Amino acid sequence: MMNKDKIAVALTTRWAARELDYRDVVDSTNDIADDAGKSGKASGFLAVADKQEAGRGSRGRSWVSPSESNIFMSIMLRPDISMENAPGLTLVMALSVAEGIEDMLNDSGYELKSGDLGIKWPNDIVLNKRKICGILTELKPAADGDYYVVIGIGINVNQKAEDYPLEIRETAGSVFSETGVITDRPRLIGRVMHHFENNYEKYVESKDLSMLKADYEKRLININKVVKIIDPDTEYEATALGITKEGALVVRKDDGSEEVINAGEVSVRGLYGYV
Ligand code: BTN
Repeated sequence: MMNKDKIAVALTTRWAARELDYRDVVDSTNDIADDAGKSGKASGFLAVADKQEAGRGSRGRSWVSPSESNIFMSIMLRPDISMENAPGLTLVMALSVAEGIEDMLNDSGYELKSGDLGIKWPNDIVLNKRKICGILTELKPAADGDYYVVIGIGINVNQKAEDYPLEIRETAGSVFSETGVITDRPRLIGRVMHHFENNYEKYVESKDLSMLKADYEKRLININKVVKIIDPDTEYEATALGITKEGALVVRKDDGSEEVINAGEVSVRGLYGYV
């Protein structure tokens, strides 16, 4: 079982997760981090739970959150950048989670092949074409006219394939289901927080992804691949070229023209399914 002490000893950060709230069961860790934001706690507050009873996914969906195998955590941040630049932080977290999982698999001796582990734009982590992590970012106005951000991270770590509900069994996976490696959850939290702290500082310094773009694109599984862009009213295929420093996806259409796609407006899929 996870507990607060095990997470605390795995932390190597200066400020990220230095205030830590661990609970066995919560409705949603995003709510705990939101309360921390409302009540004036310092930037970097982290809520972690072993199980969520009302885990939220993107687009109003729920997030499967059983006990004893996965990571559910939410960090609250008060970034020193304008609110328009904050959505890029969700890509900063995706990069940090990918780096953390990479560290853990490398330490375990597992040989990751290039392209096995990566980011599906903008912020899903994919292993062997299956989604193993989702990120839900919420921006909240604060009382003083300022704002805070809650970034919620759900990582499927040691969950068994047969434990997924049928409707996501084709597309969902965990670190364990894809590699056979059992990962120590507190240590993985420590690695993700370590990378996030460094990447966040770079992001806030430049107010964009310019210092992280190369690291992100290296892990972007869609790069140089044909993707399907699903707009509310059209659907077309294009080749993904990379990201802008704001975190939008740059694609090239068949006629050679380039298009910049903003997260949230459209969804991007592989030609034959999720990736
Ligand atoms: C997605 O649908 O891809 C986003 C999933 C986000 C899940 C995490 S789990 C921790 C945090 N608490 C929640 O209720 N959601 C996020």
